[in-house]
Amino acid sequence: MSDMNYAEIVGTGHSVPERILTNFDLEKIVDTSDEWIVTRTGIRERHIADKDTTASTLGTEAATQALEKAGMGAEDLDLILVATVTPDMPFPSTAAIIQKKINASKSAVMDISAGCTGFIYGLSIADSYIKTGIFKNILVIGVEVLTKITDWTDRSTCVLFGDGAGAVVLRATKERKGVLGTYIKGDGRLGELLMMPGGGSRNPASEETVAHRLHYLKMSGNEVFRFAVQAMGDASRAILETTGLKPEDIGMLVPHQANLRIINATAKRLGLPPEKVYINIDRYGNTSSASIPIALDEIRSNGNYKKASPLLLVAFGAGFTWGSAAISW
Ligand code: UT7
Repeated sequence: MSDMNYAEIVGTGHSVPERILTNFDLEKIVDTSDEWIVTRTGIRERHIADKDTTASTLGTEAATQALEKAGMGAEDLDLILVATVTPDMPFPSTAAIIQKKINASKSAVMDISAGCTGFIYGLSIADSYIKTGIFKNILVIGVEVLTKITDWTDRSTCVLFGDGAGAVVLRATKERKGVLGTYIKGDGRLGELLMMPGGGSRNPASEETVAHRLHYLKMSGNEVFRFAVQAMGDASRAILETTGLKPEDIGMLVPHQANLRIINATAKRLGLPPEKVYINIDRYGNTSSASIPIALDEIRSNGNYKKASPLLLVAFGAGFTWGSAAISW
């Protein structure tokens, strides 16, 4: 027991759209092959939202499950954080839209734009509010509907992404468990490697921006790859240092699921065996800020989940951003 508050994870949830798009389906859309996608990325299939499914649809489903498992009512929430780069609309925030849908009228609401590192940023912000005693109950959602900003004529990006949402409910406790530490970083000089140039105040929507395909995600995959391997290593090392954990203490590495080769390089640096590395990229593709909370819910739904503790979460993404967290169940 100590005077400090810890942010305990009391509930998790996740939601993905029903429709599955396989690599073989993609072979019919662009010049690609299942073999290329599997060997270069590890992805076999991804879930795709239909026209009526938005970030708030998936986020609400994940949040409802997480609250239910936490045994907490939405009215108990002090803060809702939503990490996303594919909000329902630029404003109001998707957090506000989800607040209305789940009836959490007493909470503050905030969206976070940190690309695929968004969930770790959310966890870090939530942890700070709980540690300082400002808030007690916080919902953090990572949700992305990247297929809505995917250019289906660009084979270098359209094979990579999938849609989904994951959510965690955090509650203040005096026991040392839950979030043991977080680490977040950014480098805006690398911003142009991964962006959606249209739709903001620089390139407001016009016939011209549509004609120039500015409302789609653009990425320099190769450069992102090189940076990612470095950033994932840096963030993993940093969180081990700040928490005093050693690689051999880690029960499970839960990396952002962007590319199996990046995940394997990160695990190798830490000297972790395959059974201690969580992988679901084959089933979901890259779901950006949703990838880590989806994994957390899958891990927690296994009866033996407490054995996989502490967990090291690590991610990188648009911004550029990168970060990590250590959590225990
Ligand atoms: O969450 C953060 C977001 N982004 C990422 O994490 C992405 C990080 N980057 C990557 O994962 C990899 O760079 C990619 C998977 C995007 C690409 O893999 P790569 O090994 O870096 O391939 P490459 O870009 O060097 O391309 C190799 C070849 C090229 O052909 P040539 O020039 O060698 O003839 C590409 O045109 O593969 C070609 N190519 C494809 N071929 C079949 C690119 N995309 C495809 C495709 N199917 N879908």
